[in-house]
Amino acid sequence: MAEGKRVKRRSMVGWYDPRVLAHSAYKLAIANIFGRHSDTRLIEALASQPQNEFDYSAAQGDFWFDYAADIGDGWNSTYAVADAIAQPELLLDDQGKLVKTEAGRVLVFGGDEVYPYPTRAEYDVRTETPYSMAFAGRAHPDVFAIPGNHDWYDSLVAFSRIFCRPERGFAGCATRQTRSYFALKLPANWWLLAIDLQLGADLDEPQVQYFQKVASRMDDAARLIFCVPEPRWILEDAYPSHSSYEELSSTRFLEEKVFKRKARVFLTGDLHFYKRHENAEGIQKITSGGGGAFLHPTHAPATRELSNGFVQRAAYPDEKTSKGLCWRNFLFPAINPKSGWLYAFLYAMSAWLASASLEAADVIDARTALAAAMNAAIRDPLNGMWLVSVVGGFIFFTDTHIRSWRILGGAFHAVAHLAAAFVVGWLALLLTMHVFELGYGTIPQLLLSGFITFIVGGPVGSFILGVYLFVSIRLFGRHGNEAFSSLRIQDFKQWLRLRIDAAGGLTIHAIGIDRVPRRWRTAQRNGKQTMEADDARATAPRLIDKVEVR
Ligand SMILES: [Fe+2]
Repeated sequence: MAEGKRVKRRSMVGWYDPRVLAHSAYKLAIANIFGRHSDTRLIEALASQPQNEFDYSAAQGDFWFDYAADIGDGWNSTYAVADAIAQPELLLDDQGKLVKTEAGRVLVFGGDEVYPYPTRAEYDVRTETPYSMAFAGRAHPDVFAIPGNHDWYDSLVAFSRIFCRPERGFAGCATRQTRSYFALKLPANWWLLAIDLQLGADLDEPQVQYFQKVASRMDDAARLIFCVPEPRWILEDAYPSHSSYEELSSTRFLEEKVFKRKARVFLTGDLHFYKRHENAEGIQKITSGGGGAFLHPTHAPATRELSNGFVQRAAYPDEKTSKGLCWRNFLFPAINPKSGWLYAFLYAMSAWLASASLEAADVIDARTALAAAMNAAIRDPLNGMWLVSVVGGFIFFTDTHIRSWRILGGAFHAVAHLAAAFVVGWLALLLTMHVFELGYGTIPQLLLSGFITFIVGGPVGSFILGVYLFVSIRLFGRHGNEAFSSLRIQDFKQWLRLRIDAAGGLTIHAIGIDRVPRRWRTAQRNGKQTMEADDARATAPRLIDKVEVR
């Protein structure tokens, strides 16, 4: 970061911006079609130097390291977490007792290092600049990362350039890995094994061979921490029929066939909240995706007791807060103003097609107009095809893996929009005829009614989507992703700070920031340019959960 450079501070990604939607769909399709057939991990493994485990086992005293996932979204949230991670120490209140935690010697990113897609510019502005500023004038940890689905959208090109080239480094920090997976040998015979599962695919052979070599250098007392790209223990419960979350998972294969022991701790992101699950053996499965991206709901799907025997011990934010946030979907058009373009087009097209075969006499009352429009939809192939594709689109969008519910929910949602488009279009016709006194079917009348439908259809359609998302998440516990990405919530951020003590115990601190700063000022720290919070309403990092593992 050059001295005096003006820092671009991005807002949270607008997931309902048609440009972001279209580009994401395109990137995802390309990644799914080509990424799965030309596995970058294989090319990387063949092209790069052999990679051993990275050894930190000789470190003296307490060994601290940080874990953050789903970073690189809006400035406020990403920088709030980066700045807190970079502070030399944080004093946290642990049930009335002050606990000192120290900045990690190592920082591990657990996936989704950038949003919405991994371009060079987005990585720079949304991820590397905030971390450069946060570490400016402070100690720099070694940085390691595994890719999440968003990093895979360019088949890992940008990710490899940033995290897998040790000569480059990241945000002024040293990077050491040359592949998208790695192993860290930590003090007290703890091993952190970070696994890349591509876009929900399986383990590739070079990766299996890599972990086999690492396993051959472990003794019987080695204790394992797995870093994985997604919380399959939650997803396989929420979507039991999804083939990616099959029983014989890649991690189970690694435990049984490669390391021949169970991992004590699982760390992941992907879902943007904090949840800790524990089983009777004391194995910890921690979802910690609050590094910067929009918040996901903690109340839906329900995860208090998973079918695999794991029980939820902590969640952040709590379920009551999560439920309360759902109401913000009634403000959908205001939070996602650009989404209106999509509905403006949808409503104007629907009204145009429906009105194409209407006569002046059909527009007299709503019932006659509706009957004529439905008649046209059945008789006119273009009209009919439009309706079928609209209904099909909404069915495709519906979030459930039970087909009948998907058809029912999607059809209901589509009918709500088509009915609204009809009402808006019909009122626009009446307005142009009776208020503006334009003759039915004249070019000025058609253009003006189309324009009114376009302008009004945008916010009306967005509002209906907001209501649909609210009903889905509150009544059926579905559309958790869509009903919260719509809210673009930058607060309730969190990350993990882990300590291996002299006795070999591992303590995991989950640290949360309830409200991130909205305003910042330029500052100097040890002669380096940086940014400081300038917002009295922002809250300090606090301990939200703590667990000790032996
Ligand atoms: Fe994510």
